[in-house]
Amino acid sequence: MRKSLVAGNWKMNGSNGTVDQLASGIVKNQADMTCDVVLCPVFVHLDRVSGIIDGSSVELGAQNCSDKTSGAFTGEVSVEMLKESGCKYVILGHSERRTLFSEQDSDVRNKLSLALESGLMPILCVGETLEERELGNAEEVVQRQLLAALSDLDLSLESVIVAYEPVWAIGTGLTATPEQAQAIHSFIRSVLGELSEELAQKVRILYGGSVKPGNAQEIFGQPDIDGGLIGGAALNVDDFIAICQAAG
Ligand code: PGA
Repeated sequence: MRKSLVAGNWKMNGSNGTVDQLASGIVKNQADMTCDVVLCPVFVHLDRVSGIIDGSSVELGAQNCSDKTSGAFTGEVSVEMLKESGCKYVILGHSERRTLFSEQDSDVRNKLSLALESGLMPILCVGETLEERELGNAEEVVQRQLLAALSDLDLSLESVIVAYEPVWAIGTGLTATPEQAQAIHSFIRSVLGELSEELAQKVRILYGGSVKPGNAQEIFGQPDIDGGLIGGAALNVDDFIAICQAAG
Protein backbone atom coordinates (compact mmCIF):
# COMPACT_ATOMS: atom_id res chain seq x y z
CA MET A 1 0.00 0.00 0.00
CA ARG A 2 1.58 3.28 -1.10
CA LYS A 3 1.02 6.30 1.14
CA SER A 4 -0.19 9.35 -0.79
CA LEU A 5 2.04 12.39 -0.91
CA VAL A 6 1.22 15.98 -1.83
CA ALA A 7 4.07 18.42 -2.46
CA GLY A 8 3.60 22.15 -2.87
CA ASN A 9 6.00 23.63 -5.40
CA TRP A 10 5.92 27.32 -4.51
CA LYS A 11 8.25 28.21 -7.40
CA MET A 12 9.70 31.76 -7.23
CA ASN A 13 6.83 33.19 -5.18
CA GLY A 14 6.34 34.77 -1.79
CA SER A 15 8.04 37.08 0.67
CA ASN A 16 9.17 36.38 4.24
CA GLY A 17 5.72 37.41 5.43
CA THR A 18 3.57 35.45 2.96
CA VAL A 19 5.74 32.34 3.26
CA ASP A 20 5.39 32.44 7.07
CA GLN A 21 1.61 32.73 6.76
CA LEU A 22 1.38 29.92 4.23
CA ALA A 23 3.58 27.50 6.16
CA SER A 24 1.96 28.18 9.52
CA GLY A 25 -1.54 27.93 8.01
CA ILE A 26 -0.68 24.49 6.65
CA VAL A 27 0.90 23.32 9.92
CA LYS A 28 -2.20 24.46 11.84
CA ASN A 29 -4.32 22.15 9.70
CA GLN A 30 -1.97 19.18 9.69
CA ALA A 31 -4.35 17.09 11.79
CA ASP A 32 -6.83 17.13 8.87
CA MET A 33 -4.30 15.63 6.45
CA THR A 34 -3.48 11.96 6.37
CA CYS A 35 -1.14 12.03 3.36
CA ASP A 36 2.56 12.97 3.48
CA VAL A 37 2.86 16.73 2.95
CA VAL A 38 5.97 18.44 1.58
CA LEU A 39 6.55 22.18 1.11
CA CYS A 40 9.11 23.35 -1.46
CA PRO A 41 9.98 27.04 -1.09
CA VAL A 42 12.88 28.86 -2.78
CA PHE A 43 16.34 28.27 -1.29
CA VAL A 44 16.41 31.49 0.75
CA HIS A 45 13.11 30.59 2.44
CA LEU A 46 14.13 27.03 3.40
CA ASP A 47 15.46 27.93 6.84
CA ARG A 48 12.42 29.91 7.91
CA VAL A 49 9.96 27.30 6.63
CA SER A 50 12.05 24.62 8.36
CA GLY A 51 11.61 26.54 11.63
CA ILE A 52 7.86 26.84 11.17
CA ILE A 53 7.22 23.17 10.34
CA ASP A 54 9.62 21.90 13.02
CA GLY A 55 7.83 19.40 15.26
CA SER A 56 4.94 18.94 12.79
CA SER A 57 4.39 16.16 10.28
CA VAL A 58 4.95 18.56 7.37
CA GLU A 59 8.27 18.08 5.57
CA LEU A 60 10.61 20.26 3.56
CA GLY A 61 11.81 20.00 -0.03
CA ALA A 62 13.91 22.11 -2.38
CA GLN A 63 13.06 22.95 -5.98
CA ASN A 64 16.46 22.09 -7.43
CA CYS A 65 20.05 21.32 -6.47
CA SER A 66 23.50 21.53 -7.99
CA ASP A 67 25.03 18.66 -9.91
CA LYS A 68 28.30 19.40 -8.10
CA THR A 69 29.19 18.69 -4.48
CA SER A 70 31.12 21.90 -3.65
CA GLY A 71 33.54 24.41 -5.04
CA ALA A 72 33.67 27.38 -7.38
CA PHE A 73 30.12 27.20 -8.78
CA THR A 74 28.70 30.66 -8.19
CA GLY A 75 25.00 30.67 -7.40
CA GLU A 76 24.67 26.92 -6.96
CA VAL A 77 23.40 25.02 -3.89
CA SER A 78 24.59 21.51 -3.05
CA VAL A 79 22.59 18.55 -1.77
CA GLU A 80 24.49 18.63 1.53
CA MET A 81 23.53 22.28 2.03
CA LEU A 82 19.90 21.37 1.39
CA LYS A 83 20.08 18.59 3.96
CA GLU A 84 21.57 20.99 6.50
CA SER A 85 18.66 23.34 5.85
CA GLY A 86 16.26 20.57 6.82
CA CYS A 87 15.27 19.24 3.39
CA LYS A 88 14.19 15.63 2.99
CA TYR A 89 13.12 15.99 -0.64
CA VAL A 90 14.31 17.74 -3.79
CA ILE A 91 12.34 18.33 -6.99
CA LEU A 92 14.49 17.45 -10.02
CA GLY A 93 13.97 17.86 -13.75
CA HIS A 94 10.92 20.11 -13.48
CA SER A 95 9.86 21.12 -16.99
CA GLU A 96 10.55 24.78 -16.18
CA ARG A 97 14.16 23.82 -15.42
CA ARG A 98 14.35 21.73 -18.58
CA THR A 99 12.85 24.34 -20.90
CA LEU A 100 13.80 27.70 -19.34
CA PHE A 101 17.22 26.72 -17.97
CA SER A 102 18.22 24.15 -20.60
CA GLU A 103 18.57 21.25 -18.17
CA GLN A 104 19.38 18.08 -20.04
CA ASP A 105 18.52 14.50 -19.11
CA SER A 106 22.18 14.01 -18.16
CA ASP A 107 22.07 16.97 -15.72
CA VAL A 108 18.96 15.54 -14.10
CA ARG A 109 20.62 12.17 -13.75
CA ASN A 110 23.74 13.65 -12.11
CA LYS A 111 21.63 15.61 -9.65
CA LEU A 112 19.46 12.59 -8.90
CA SER A 113 22.43 10.41 -8.23
CA LEU A 114 23.93 12.99 -5.81
CA ALA A 115 20.58 13.43 -4.07
CA LEU A 116 20.21 9.69 -3.52
CA GLU A 117 23.76 9.32 -2.27
CA SER A 118 23.18 12.07 0.26
CA GLY A 119 19.89 10.57 1.45
CA LEU A 120 17.64 13.25 -0.08
CA MET A 121 14.54 11.85 -1.73
CA PRO A 122 14.29 13.07 -5.34
CA ILE A 123 10.94 13.95 -6.87
CA LEU A 124 11.82 13.24 -10.50
CA CYS A 125 9.59 15.18 -12.92
CA VAL A 126 8.82 13.82 -16.36
CA GLY A 127 6.29 14.88 -18.96
CA GLU A 128 5.67 15.66 -22.58
CA THR A 129 4.94 18.96 -24.33
CA LEU A 130 1.69 19.51 -26.22
CA GLU A 131 3.50 19.07 -29.53
CA GLU A 132 4.99 15.76 -28.38
CA ARG A 133 1.57 14.54 -27.24
CA GLU A 134 -0.07 15.56 -30.52
CA LEU A 135 2.61 13.69 -32.45
CA GLY A 136 1.78 10.59 -30.38
CA ASN A 137 5.15 10.66 -28.62
CA ALA A 138 4.09 11.15 -24.99
CA GLU A 139 5.11 7.67 -23.84
CA GLU A 140 8.40 7.76 -25.74
CA VAL A 141 9.38 11.09 -24.13
CA VAL A 142 8.42 9.98 -20.64
CA GLN A 143 10.29 6.69 -21.04
CA ARG A 144 13.42 8.49 -22.28
CA GLN A 145 13.36 10.89 -19.33
CA LEU A 146 12.81 8.07 -16.83
CA LEU A 147 15.49 5.77 -18.16
CA ALA A 148 18.02 8.58 -18.62
CA ALA A 149 17.60 9.45 -14.95
CA LEU A 150 17.29 6.00 -13.43
CA SER A 151 18.88 3.21 -15.43
CA ASP A 152 21.92 1.49 -14.01
CA LEU A 153 21.70 3.36 -10.73
CA ASP A 154 22.94 1.14 -7.98
CA LEU A 155 20.38 2.52 -5.55
CA SER A 156 16.94 1.55 -4.31
CA LEU A 157 14.10 2.89 -6.42
CA GLU A 158 12.04 2.96 -3.26
CA SER A 159 13.71 6.22 -2.39
CA VAL A 160 12.63 7.88 -5.63
CA ILE A 161 9.34 9.61 -6.26
CA VAL A 162 8.22 10.25 -9.83
CA ALA A 163 5.98 13.17 -10.81
CA TYR A 164 4.21 12.99 -14.15
CA GLU A 165 3.65 16.57 -15.24
CA PRO A 166 2.40 17.04 -18.79
CA VAL A 167 4.02 20.34 -19.75
CA TRP A 168 0.83 21.52 -21.46
CA ALA A 169 -1.07 21.26 -18.16
CA ILE A 170 1.35 23.23 -15.96
CA GLY A 171 0.00 26.62 -14.94
CA THR A 172 -2.34 26.65 -17.93
CA GLY A 173 -5.58 25.63 -16.27
CA LEU A 174 -5.65 22.62 -18.61
CA THR A 175 -5.55 19.31 -16.76
CA ALA A 176 -5.03 15.85 -18.15
CA THR A 177 -8.26 13.92 -17.76
CA PRO A 178 -8.06 11.32 -14.99
CA GLU A 179 -7.99 8.66 -17.72
CA GLN A 180 -5.14 10.35 -19.64
CA ALA A 181 -3.15 10.73 -16.43
CA GLN A 182 -3.82 7.17 -15.30
CA ALA A 183 -2.71 5.82 -18.69
CA ILE A 184 0.70 7.51 -18.41
CA HIS A 185 1.06 6.66 -14.71
CA SER A 186 0.44 3.02 -15.45
CA PHE A 187 2.95 3.24 -18.33
CA ILE A 188 5.53 4.81 -15.96
CA ARG A 189 5.01 1.96 -13.51
CA SER A 190 5.57 -0.54 -16.31
CA VAL A 191 8.82 1.19 -17.32
CA LEU A 192 9.96 1.13 -13.68
CA GLY A 193 8.92 -2.51 -13.59
CA GLU A 194 11.54 -3.26 -16.22
CA LEU A 195 14.13 -2.02 -13.71
CA SER A 196 12.55 -3.90 -10.78
CA GLU A 197 8.97 -5.18 -10.56
CA GLU A 198 8.91 -5.27 -6.78
CA LEU A 199 10.11 -1.71 -6.40
CA ALA A 200 7.87 -0.41 -9.19
CA GLN A 201 4.89 -1.36 -7.03
CA LYS A 202 6.32 0.67 -4.15
CA VAL A 203 7.33 3.85 -6.01
CA ARG A 204 4.95 6.74 -5.57
CA ILE A 205 3.96 8.46 -8.81
CA LEU A 206 2.49 11.95 -8.39
CA TYR A 207 0.43 13.86 -10.93
CA GLY A 208 1.11 17.56 -11.50
CA GLY A 209 -0.49 20.16 -13.75
CA SER A 210 -3.34 22.47 -12.72
CA VAL A 211 -4.51 20.31 -9.82
CA LYS A 212 -7.18 22.20 -7.85
CA PRO A 213 -9.60 21.35 -5.06
CA GLY A 214 -12.28 20.77 -7.73
CA ASN A 215 -10.41 18.10 -9.71
CA ALA A 216 -8.08 16.58 -7.11
CA GLN A 217 -10.33 13.81 -5.87
CA GLU A 218 -11.05 12.41 -9.30
CA ILE A 219 -7.37 12.50 -10.30
CA PHE A 220 -6.14 10.98 -7.03
CA GLY A 221 -8.82 8.30 -7.30
CA GLN A 222 -6.93 6.61 -10.15
CA PRO A 223 -5.13 3.40 -9.17
CA ASP A 224 -1.61 4.47 -10.21
CA ILE A 225 -1.80 8.07 -8.99
CA ASP A 226 -0.31 8.41 -5.52
CA GLY A 227 -0.73 12.13 -4.89
CA GLY A 228 0.22 15.39 -6.53
CA LEU A 229 2.86 18.02 -7.20
CA ILE A 230 0.97 21.27 -6.86
CA GLY A 231 2.03 24.68 -8.18
CA GLY A 232 -0.49 27.55 -8.25
CA ALA A 233 -3.00 26.01 -5.82
CA ALA A 234 -0.22 25.40 -3.27
CA LEU A 235 0.01 29.17 -2.71
CA ASN A 236 -3.40 29.25 -1.06
CA VAL A 237 -3.75 27.58 2.36
CA ASP A 238 -7.39 26.53 1.92
CA ASP A 239 -6.88 25.15 -1.59
CA PHE A 240 -3.74 23.27 -0.62
CA ILE A 241 -5.39 21.73 2.43
CA ALA A 242 -8.41 20.69 0.37
CA ILE A 243 -6.07 19.01 -2.14
CA CYS A 244 -4.21 17.22 0.68
CA GLN A 245 -7.51 16.01 2.08
CA ALA A 246 -8.52 14.70 -1.34
CA ALA A 247 -5.26 12.71 -1.42
CA GLY A 248 -5.76 11.34 2.08
P1 PGA B 1 0.51 24.03 -11.50
O1 PGA B 1 2.06 23.65 -11.43
O2 PGA B 1 -0.19 23.26 -10.41
O3 PGA B 1 0.47 25.53 -11.27
O4 PGA B 1 0.02 23.66 -12.85
C1 PGA B 1 2.48 22.34 -11.17
C2 PGA B 1 3.98 22.28 -11.18
O5 PGA B 1 4.61 23.01 -11.96
O6 PGA B 1 4.60 21.49 -10.44
